Amino acid sequence: MLIRPETPADVDSVGEVVTAAFGEHAEHVLSMLDALRADPAWVDGLSLVAAGDDGDVVGHVLLTRVDVDSPRGTVPALTLTPLAVTPAAQGRGIGTALVTAALDAATAAGWPLVLLEGDPRYYGRRGFVAADPLGLPSPSSLIPAGAWQVALLPTHAPWMTGPVTLSAPLRAVNDLPRV
Ligand SMILES: CC(C)(COP(=O)(O)OP(=O)(O)OC[C@H]1O[C@@H](n2cnc3c(N)ncnc32)[C@H](O)[C@@H]1OP(=O)(O)O)[C@@H](O)C(=O)NCCC(=O)NCCS
Repeated sequence: MLIRPETPADVDSVGEVVTAAFGEHAEHVLSMLDALRADPAWVDGLSLVAAGDDGDVVGHVLLTRVDVDSPRGTVPALTLTPLAVTPAAQGRGIGTALVTAALDAATAAGWPLVLLEGDPRYYGRRGFVAADPLGLPSPSSLIPAGAWQVALLPTHAPWMTGPVTLSAPLRAVNDLPRV
């Protein structure tokens, strides 16, 4: 298995992986992904795919830009969503490898932190901690307690706190009731 940046040739395969992974919720995730591709929040090189030995894309992770409105001004940061592994390939560590690769790519590019909404039982063992206690409050009252999490990277500094402004595609998804 190889994790590498997405190329234009991967876009359809990524859509297929997301569709298979998210099942009945795929429509919302796909429209968010499409909107992010055309949004200023998109950061080239931070959409990663996992390819199997035959080259087929079996997993995908995306980091896009958010802003932390800190006391010292806007801090550019990232959010991780979506993360998807095709069902037949789940449970083999591919999701974990994609999260690690995403955090490594963000670190290499000097980003200070990565936020996400997700299950703390999954992300808590993959570098994330609750964001609220670190002064990074949840951007939506619809996000369940404890699900708003952050991974602090080497360039993070303690003053990087404050409300988080999501990109428009993420705001649209965050306004949906949780399943
Ligand atoms: C979540 C997901 C990416 C994990 O991918 P994966 O390759 O199966 O993950 P790994 O093999 O690295 O890790 C498997 C572990 O994740 C757990 N897990 C899988 N889905 C989970 C979920 N929705 N919530 C909590 N834990 C989950 C498994 O129980 C397993 O636990 P273990 O480490 O204690 O054995 C994959 O299940 C998926 O695509 N799910 C549908 C889409 C989704 O929910 N994405 C995350 C939100 S954006």
